[in-house]
Amino acid sequence: MQPVSLAELESQFAALREETQQALAAASTPADLEAVRVKYLGRKSVVTDTLKQISQWPAEERGAVGKAANVFKASLEADLKSHQDALAAQPRAAASIDVTLPGAAPQLGRLHPVTQTMAEIVELFRALGFEIVEGPELELEWNNFDALNIPRDHPSRENFDTFFVDAPSPDPKKGQPLLRSHTSPVQIRVMQARRPPLRIVVPGKVYRPDPLDASHSFMFHQVEGLMVDDHTNFSDLKGLLGRFARQYFGPATKTRFRPHFFPFTEPSAEVDVSCSRCAGEGCSTCGQKGWLEILGCGMVHPNVFKAVGYDPKTVQGFAFGMGVERIAMLRHGISDIRLFFENDLRFLEQF
Ligand code: PHE
Repeated sequence: MQPVSLAELESQFAALREETQQALAAASTPADLEAVRVKYLGRKSVVTDTLKQISQWPAEERGAVGKAANVFKASLEADLKSHQDALAAQPRAAASIDVTLPGAAPQLGRLHPVTQTMAEIVELFRALGFEIVEGPELELEWNNFDALNIPRDHPSRENFDTFFVDAPSPDPKKGQPLLRSHTSPVQIRVMQARRPPLRIVVPGKVYRPDPLDASHSFMFHQVEGLMVDDHTNFSDLKGLLGRFARQYFGPATKTRFRPHFFPFTEPSAEVDVSCSRCAGEGCSTCGQKGWLEILGCGMVHPNVFKAVGYDPKTVQGFAFGMGVERIAMLRHGISDIRLFFENDLRFLEQF
């Protein structure tokens, strides 16, 4: 209805003003606010019409008509602006996210199971005062073999089949460069650089040209241990490794020391733990034996002490070495070493 009097026009604007206030209160998005603006201030709005047709009003009323329209317009524009500011200041989520829905967990990275196992092993020894030491993967023949009492033509070298590196030796007296076949050369490096007492554990990668199968890989990890002072004996070694086995595989774990041969230790032993799956009864995991071999160890051979310039009459100590993948496989019931190196997330995410 077209207003016919100034009073009617004014009451029409008052009604519109109330309508706009309700519409603004209900508006929750910038699009809602824009719809209010278009409806009440746009080309087809009452205020625009009024201003367009102002010439049809009697001359003496035009000032008041224009003022009524402009007051309406200005107050709505001010309201729109303050609603826009309020919307912009609101945290975005509030308008569109249901905070009662379960959240999406952020993707977290994790350590590789071999890294985890290695960290757990060294931590158990660190807690007993062993220091963590690392050495180079690219070694020299002398550190990897000769100094460890494995002479050049000795058949036991074949047990440590090796990747030799076709490069000039930085120290020809120490032979060819090679990828270390065990972590034991780090014993040599540490003993040459320091004097007893020593208590170290050495985590790291080792390399052997074994054909890949379920239990062999050309690269794997070891943790080596060495303790040297003037009275460390085989009972200390047994006590330490028994404690390690119980901490790592569970308090009911038994250990068994079997006589063995290593050129760099004398006497030497291989250590078995009771199979935790069958509690020593015999099952497929332990090949019906009830025992699982976990490491090699022994008392450091006098020739090794001589090679590093220690007097074997005044120092004694023990060494041990274990394969990290093997220990992780026993602990978690993993049957194929290749799983560690295939990087299949379905496997890795289980750890
Ligand atoms: N170096 C030996 C191996 O790789 C393990 C070992 C270390 C045995 C120290 C005895 C003492 O098989």
